[in-house]
Amino acid sequence: MQKGKIIKEVQSYIKKEFGGDSTGHDWWHIFRVWKMAKEIAKKEGGDLFVIELGALLHDIADWKFNDDEKAGSKKAKPLLEKLGVDQETVKHVCGIIDNVSFKGANVENGIKTLEGKVVQDADRLDAMGAIGLARAFAYGAKANRELYNPKIKPMLNRSLKNYKKAYFSTTINHFYEKLLLIKDRLNTKTAKKIAQPRHKFLENYLDEFFKEWNVEIRK
Ligand code: ADP
Ligand code: NI
Repeated sequence: MQKGKIIKEVQSYIKKEFGGDSTGHDWWHIFRVWKMAKEIAKKEGGDLFVIELGALLHDIADWKFNDDEKAGSKKAKPLLEKLGVDQETVKHVCGIIDNVSFKGANVENGIKTLEGKVVQDADRLDAMGAIGLARAFAYGAKANRELYNPKIKPMLNRSLKNYKKAYFSTTINHFYEKLLLIKDRLNTKTAKKIAQPRHKFLENYLDEFFKEWNVEIRK
């Protein structure tokens, strides 16, 4: 099968699969990551076929809800093989899927190839800025988290196990545990530039949040 046709097939599979999700992993998240990955690739290069497949499939099985860290590649491999994708590409894309996620402030990044770095950056950029903020609150509500609680402090040195089980924390804490850390964890120069205003937006938002929390009346 021709590459363009394969991308189309994967796109419609994922669109069906992610249709009604409300945890921040809906089809439109995948769509934005796909679009952003192509944008970053224009500047950074990399094999576009691998990048597009990686972006479309990167959340195929969410590791947070799965004890098996290879659940994603196990689901993606038969799909890619059925579409006639060559073994080398299948292996590369599966490697990206299993390593793309942020797994806690202290957990090392398993992404090694340029294509993986581009997909990971695109995914991480979508957790920043106005959209990242909206996704965090959507996720927080779904996980029954409080918006904020001054008695619960952010935990920066979480192990992977703790990060997964962090449901007692608050959504505002997630800003400190992940969202504000992203800008220094991006792989490519292009993504770092795109991240700047998104980071600033999050900082300004927190500033405003705490002013209101502390009932600072402005003139
Ligand atoms: P990604 O798709 O970027 O790998 P995740 O699967 O970690 O992201 O999470 C999906 C979305 O939910 C992201 O925007 C992320 O910031 C947000 N999120 C993840 N964990 C939490 C949490 N504990 N509290 C609030 N938001 C969260
Ligand atoms: Ni994602």
